[in-house]
Amino acid sequence: MQSKLFIANWKSNKTVSEATDWIAEFSKQFAVLRSKDPRSKVILAPSLVHIPLVKELSPKLDSFQIAGQDVSHFPLGSYTGAVAADQLRDLGVTYCLVGHSERRRYFGETHQLVAQKIELLVASSIIPILCVDEKEIEQQADLLSAKLRNSCIVAYEPVTAIGTGMGQDISLVEPVVSQIKSLFGDVPVLYGGSVNSINISEYLFVTDGVLVGAVSLDPQKFFDLTAVSYTLEEQ
Ligand code: PGA
Repeated sequence: MQSKLFIANWKSNKTVSEATDWIAEFSKQFAVLRSKDPRSKVILAPSLVHIPLVKELSPKLDSFQIAGQDVSHFPLGSYTGAVAADQLRDLGVTYCLVGHSERRRYFGETHQLVAQKIELLVASSIIPILCVDEKEIEQQADLLSAKLRNSCIVAYEPVTAIGTGMGQDISLVEPVVSQIKSLFGDVPVLYGGSVNSINISEYLFVTDGVLVGAVSLDPQKFFDLTAVSYTLEEQ
């Protein structure tokens, strides 16, 4: 079984005390599991304001990394309210979501803005986790140089599956994963959209990992997902 990526996207959820409790509960089990086998990686994307706290409290393991949920499409400068890639880098962030469907839908992000963000992230040595619906893949890829495409992790996130409890049919996921690999090169390709403990094994068979929203808010449920790769291996 190859290593897998498990990404928790908390979105705009959790107070300081809830974030603290999550890390405490998750860390207890995760550190033990990963000390035995560190191949798979967990990436936690908390709200920006929680990044320093999460960084301080979370396990100091290569297999546990922090991601931003978004980044400015501008560099450092006079852009009130924006957070630049270099500032994320300073916080110890090694990955950043970009182009999530909620950003595209509620904040009007275009393919062009997403491309600018990817360029700035890569320049700051942060790995972009590009989220795309199947309708967006080609247009988004067209706006990126081969080098930038090859620097991304790509998450296939069908908008109809996000937050609905209805994960995408696996037969529809496989061809999209192949399409992404043909356009972006041999980059990790993830699936996201209503991933849960019942459907995760199917998705892990055809992808390099999962991007999890709702289920990641509960530390035990998310831990159980990250332990699935071990279960698969034992079968
Ligand atoms: P969900 O969210 O797991 O709650 O569907 C996934 C996502 O938005 O990345």
